[in-house]
Amino acid sequence: MNANRASEVTAIRGPMLSFRADPWLVPESEAVEYESDAVVVMENGLIREVGPANRILPGLPPGAALTRWKDHLILPGFIDCHTHYPQTDMIAARGNDLLDWLNRYTFVEEQAFADAAHAREVAAFFLDEQLRHGVTTASVFCTSAPESVEALLTEAVRRQMRILAGKVCMDRNAPPALLDTPERAVGETRSLLARWRGQGRAEVVITPRFAPTSSEEQLAALGALAAEFPDAPIQSHISEQSGEIAWVNRLFPNDADYTAVYARHGLLRKRAVYGHGIHLSESELCRFAESGAAIAHCPTSNFFLGSGCLNVRGLKNPARPVKTGLATDVGAGTGFSILQTLNEAYKAAKMNGVSPTAFQLLYLATRGSAEALGLEKRIGTIAPGMEADLVVLDPAATPLTARRMKSACSLHDQLFALMTLGDDRHTAATCLAGTLHLNRKPKSGM
Ligand code: GUN
Ligand code: ZN
Repeated sequence: MNANRASEVTAIRGPMLSFRADPWLVPESEAVEYESDAVVVMENGLIREVGPANRILPGLPPGAALTRWKDHLILPGFIDCHTHYPQTDMIAARGNDLLDWLNRYTFVEEQAFADAAHAREVAAFFLDEQLRHGVTTASVFCTSAPESVEALLTEAVRRQMRILAGKVCMDRNAPPALLDTPERAVGETRSLLARWRGQGRAEVVITPRFAPTSSEEQLAALGALAAEFPDAPIQSHISEQSGEIAWVNRLFPNDADYTAVYARHGLLRKRAVYGHGIHLSESELCRFAESGAAIAHCPTSNFFLGSGCLNVRGLKNPARPVKTGLATDVGAGTGFSILQTLNEAYKAAKMNGVSPTAFQLLYLATRGSAEALGLEKRIGTIAPGMEADLVVLDPAATPLTARRMKSACSLHDQLFALMTLGDDRHTAATCLAGTLHLNRKPKSGM
């Protein structure tokens, strides 16, 4: 990888796509911003200016480094709003259902992360892999060991990535080595919140794993912590599989449904992102919409574990739109590629009788995830003042995509085929806070 210094004025030029608004809710003509020959000017980690090359180039400071990406596509950096770095080494492990898979692999694997050296090594690989796939921000589950958070955020700050990381809180229904207590969960999360505040672009997330692994007392304690830190992000899982939902109903018999368990403890609010949400009722979706809590759509994971097909169109009912982001959910998710995750998101929608456009899907992986995480004022769009996180895609990186692009009849057709067929080979470069990381060389000059 190659890098320039973020303090200089730098610029990249090429076709650019970004979103002004949500194309699930407003016409695409209003939501989509496309410029066939754009220049993005960056300084001090932020986007300073963006617009058509013929307007921006004359004002570019002399000596500003300009990289040109002809026949490529510049997008906001991808945002993976729900994933698990400790599951990197057990990705693609066969299981019966969610609970069997958790017990058989996940809870075994996660016990190794109290070892700081192991955690650092896996964290470094995980973040490099994200970067190689154009992911510039992610909200990541660590393990119940605070060392696992320390490892991930240390490596994230080194790379200038915007990483949100949570110490997983669980005090029941998991192996003893992974269990904390209500007091430890709060104490450790609180110290991590203090320790990482203002460190690079790191953020600590309040992270009860899911309702079955937290006692009533732990959820209450984490709810109180969340009330003390009203702007802190929260992450967990909800309504992924029928066996899990039935278990929650047995464990919390006085709550009307799964959502009520979290809502009763003050854990349903803006910046709270829940993985899956496949089987939520209309009443639960209304509470998500009212509270500003979000769903992380994890289609590769949902297919892999046989969990079901999320109906994003149903979430995006204009009468009560639920914020929705895209997520890989590694290691139940089957890869780091956001393009492949979108490919599967399309199929999940098709199983619900819906055919989303490439614009609607790419929105989920950029501005949609930023809104889910409450970070839409900083990341997820290409506009002046936003953080300079970008991904440069090569739509014709393989023999098949090169051939398919020749017959692409429109921008949409090109994007749709790229999203369906693309993978890491189609990520030419990733720009992190203005620093360009190259997977391969750009064409130079103006
Ligand atoms: N529910 C609780 N924990 C997990 C996890 O690690 N992965 C998935 N897919 N679902 C979960
Ligand atoms: Zn998950």
